[in-house]
Amino acid sequence: MQSYRLISSSPQETARLAALLGRFLTAGCVVCLAGELGTGKTCLAQGIARGLGVPEDVYVTSPSFAVINEYLGRLPLFHVDLYRIEDPAELEGIGFEEIVYGDAVVVIEWADKFVDVLPEERLEIFLSFLDNDSRAITLTPLGPRARELAEQYLTAAHEPHVA
Ligand SMILES: Nc1ncnc2c1ncn2[C@@H]1O[C@H](COP(=O)(O)OP(=O)(O)O)[C@@H](O)[C@H]1O
Ligand SMILES: [Mg+2]
Repeated sequence: MQSYRLISSSPQETARLAALLGRFLTAGCVVCLAGELGTGKTCLAQGIARGLGVPEDVYVTSPSFAVINEYLGRLPLFHVDLYRIEDPAELEGIGFEEIVYGDAVVVIEWADKFVDVLPEERLEIFLSFLDNDSRAITLTPLGPRARELAEQYLTAAHEPHVA
């Protein structure tokens, strides 16, 4: 299992790297975000939404209370936050399985809380603090589709004109 590490030095850079990823996402892609509070999971999800074509005037908020927010860009997007979920049984009530195995793009914050309910095919992104405004962003694609996505994305991210 291979991982790839990117460094972001500002919230803007995280959003820009995420927007680029959003451009490569296809129907059914599941992106699982993990990392301590304040590392930038929501910032990354907001960038993905922009890259997927969710209009700039649509405010992408943290779904920590709502648990799931839905947006429409080039594809439908579900932004999920499992922070407040205490028991995986609660996920049934919110239609988690239908969402995660459906055709929308799904971005899940705190996905590492319930690894058992995640699809095998997924892109995992782990964020960690380096210093005040720097974050390490580690991508781990699981499954052939996710690996292909990660390769396309990383090629573009390292191409100065595209990134
Ligand atoms: N490089 C960076 N990437 C993302 N956020 C950063 C970065 N540097 C500083 N920040 C700040 O860290 C916070 C991240 O918040 P948020 O995205 O809500 O994190 P999380 O969802 O992981 O709790 C924001 O206040 C943001 O401005
Ligand atoms: Mg958050």
